[in-house]
Amino acid sequence: MTQSPAGSAKKKLLIVDDEKYITQLLTELLENDYSVETANDGIQAFNKLKNDSFDLMLTDISMPNLDGIELLRLARAQLPDMSVIMMSGLATTENVIDALNLGARHFIRKPFKINDVSEIIKQKMSEGQSSESASEIDVVMTDINYLILSNNYGKMTDVKKILPACTQAYYDILKDARVVKSLMKIKQFDDAIYRHSLDVGIIASIICAFKHVKTALLNAITLGGFLHDIGKINVDYNILNKSEKLTTEEFDQIKLHTFFGHNILLEEGFAEEVAEIAFKHHEKLDGSGYPRGYTEYGIDTASQFIAVCDIYSALTEKRPYRKKLTPQEALELMHKDFVAKINFDVVKLLRLFIEG
Ligand SMILES: [Fe+2]
Ligand SMILES: [Fe+2]
Repeated sequence: MTQSPAGSAKKKLLIVDDEKYITQLLTELLENDYSVETANDGIQAFNKLKNDSFDLMLTDISMPNLDGIELLRLARAQLPDMSVIMMSGLATTENVIDALNLGARHFIRKPFKINDVSEIIKQKMSEGQSSESASEIDVVMTDINYLILSNNYGKMTDVKKILPACTQAYYDILKDARVVKSLMKIKQFDDAIYRHSLDVGIIASIICAFKHVKTALLNAITLGGFLHDIGKINVDYNILNKSEKLTTEEFDQIKLHTFFGHNILLEEGFAEEVAEIAFKHHEKLDGSGYPRGYTEYGIDTASQFIAVCDIYSALTEKRPYRKKLTPQEALELMHKDFVAKINFDVVKLLRLFIEG
């Protein structure tokens, strides 16, 4: 086996791209740290995978003979533990979803800066993710993809344009084992709350990506969406799922999920801004919300943003006490019943995206 200068075995990397200058440049950048092999189409790459084992494969999607998705499918059977990073300039929604379902760990959109790619490879090589957390990430990613395919988040042509940015955000967020652990706790408590939590994060990410919000903010708001209702795991399950009208005492118990969520997230070491979303996503701009009855000035923008996504998600989901609304019905109801209560700049963005 090839040895690094320090004497330890070098990890093996396979770079697959029909554009030779990309494989050459990446090889030059990475060959000091890794044992690098290259292939210029899927068939060549698959032959290498049959005869050798690799720690990571970086592959283009559009290639002659055998494309990156088919290569990934074949590679999975050959080397199930190999990390795979996909890259493409023309990724379709179906491509992205296929790649993710086949266990691709990262998606790079072309054109890219060659140094950024080499950084991502170094990062992925050093992660040493445990197979247990990797499989939980797969569970969450599959659930996210299922929601994207089955829900109406707007015109699919528009969703396709922003999906790579959103997918990248989901992977960046799910790299944090605390996030996956938290989502698994919600899933074990109640699958409907888990799906709603993912839905709110997806809606938030779509609006942010649509508006070309910077990556750090997109990730923070999406994370807030995923975990906004985590406090519900400390509320009586039967009250949460009661189909009859709630008593005042029961509703007071449900309101506590905002306090619980804030505490859980701080205890887990999440940033105050994330915990703040769990605390304030039911506050209303006119002071009629809970738990504190803050007005507009006491509610941070991220919480106002998630409040809109939360209401839209709740209205477009089936609940024990009412049928699910269509996106248009939900938007109309928001305009009718939530005047002066929620941030209509966010509603406007949501409407723009959904109605085109
Ligand atoms: Fe909530
Ligand atoms: Fe919620």
